[in-house]
Amino acid sequence: MTEATALRVGPGNAGQARAWDGEEGAYWAGHARRFDRAVAAYHGTFMAACGIAAGERVLDIGCGTGQTTRDAAATAGPGPALGVDLSARMIELARRLAAEEGTGNVSFEQADAQIYPFPAGSFDVAISRTGTMFFGDPAAAFANIGRALRPGGRLVMLVWQGPGPNEWVRELSGALAAGRDLPAPPPGAPGPFSLADPGRTRTLLASAGFSGVTLDALHEPMWFGSDPDDAHRFVLGLMGVVGRVVCTWFGSSLC
Ligand SMILES: C[S@@+](CC[C@H](N)C(=O)[O-])C[C@H]1O[C@@H](n2cnc3c(N)ncnc32)[C@H](O)[C@@H]1O
Repeated sequence: MTEATALRVGPGNAGQARAWDGEEGAYWAGHARRFDRAVAAYHGTFMAACGIAAGERVLDIGCGTGQTTRDAAATAGPGPALGVDLSARMIELARRLAAEEGTGNVSFEQADAQIYPFPAGSFDVAISRTGTMFFGDPAAAFANIGRALRPGGRLVMLVWQGPGPNEWVRELSGALAAGRDLPAPPPGAPGPFSLADPGRTRTLLASAGFSGVTLDALHEPMWFGSDPDDAHRFVLGLMGVVGRVVCTWFGSSLC
């Protein structure tokens, strides 16, 4: 059962906020190190692509428990890094981890990046490690992020390719489908694969005012545990999160 959230969110984001500011965010916060390790093979390439220079002002969208915000702050210093996320639990942990590490130029806000009134032109770079695929109104969200950037500022996002190349969801949904033909999900529906189509993503970003868009494919393994039992325990706990992904993606025929 997902609890209601008091957070003010934009059109189409109530369900995501209930989930991320509820059980999903709580599970994520409870296993933060493990989630960071799950995508560790992507992290270095992503941070290098962000290309953050000393003094830059960084906005981290859907920052979760803040590994990318803290790493950005370490490079941007004395420039500030702000992380925003829907989940109060993840933001609370992000603040604690930054304090423990003594990172002074970092701050976190629980907010919906789609509607949050960022001061116009106040960031040099917006970054996101798998945090920009869940917007109910992605055109409005990317326009809002664009307004927060200075003229000539940049946006660097890591997003999932479609379910085909992603074993972590393909195998699970294949098992649940048990040989049935699954209906295609609505294109661009909020969820991990909403930005998987390069053409749609280019059009979306262009409509929000971004130019010079480049897309680079990255294929790395995910890490779920140190051995099959360990991974099994983690994935079972993840079923709420992955289950919702599968249901969103394949619709009610599976759930
Ligand atoms: C897959 S997690 C990634 C978290 C983090 N970036 C990481 O790499 O560990 C997606 C995150 O996006 C956040 N999110 C989803 N929609 C959002 C929105 N509209 N505004 C801010 N954060 C959002 C969720 O709360 C969640 O923490």
